[in-house]
Amino acid sequence: MRRVAVYPGSFDPITNGHLDIIERTANIFDNVIVAVSNNPNKDHLFNRKERVEMIEEATSDYESIEVDAFDGLLIDYIKQQEAGIIVRGLRAVSDFEAEFQMASMNKKLDSDIETIFMMTKNKYVYLSSSIIREVSELGGCIEGLVPENVIPRLREEIGGE
Ligand code: PNS
Repeated sequence: MRRVAVYPGSFDPITNGHLDIIERTANIFDNVIVAVSNNPNKDHLFNRKERVEMIEEATSDYESIEVDAFDGLLIDYIKQQEAGIIVRGLRAVSDFEAEFQMASMNKKLDSDIETIFMMTKNKYVYLSSSIIREVSELGGCIEGLVPENVIPRLREEIGGE
């Protein structure tokens, strides 16, 4: 049976920390769907089409990785895709509480679907999309922290170096 994992998130924009989790997930599962959400409570820098495009460009070498957008409940999307696994990256202890809450709620909504966590590589442990947006906005260097294709997009969007 084909084993499909879904890696959901807002990816505004994708970072090298995300990319590392995607690649490591692709080494374990037959297929990985990177599922891009639209969180109405978040003020996104990039629209969803741009976020999807940036991930597609960054993962174009991998046939087993698909990029998609979803609305509504993640659990409903997982069922629609016939995937049984949600993958989330865990950085420091500070991620734990929110991730525990999400995984517990998703388990309550459908007990057949598992959430698994992958520890972020040490070198990316401080990295987040929001810190990338902030550093870009203030003209700091983000080389090596996001996929190469994301740098010109950020420059265009907020004028960062
Ligand atoms: O990158 P993020 O913002 O941490 O990702 C959060 C995401 C998209 C995984 C989460 O907000 C989500 O699953 N949203 C979809 C709506 C949903 O299912 N909410 C209930 C989750 S418990």
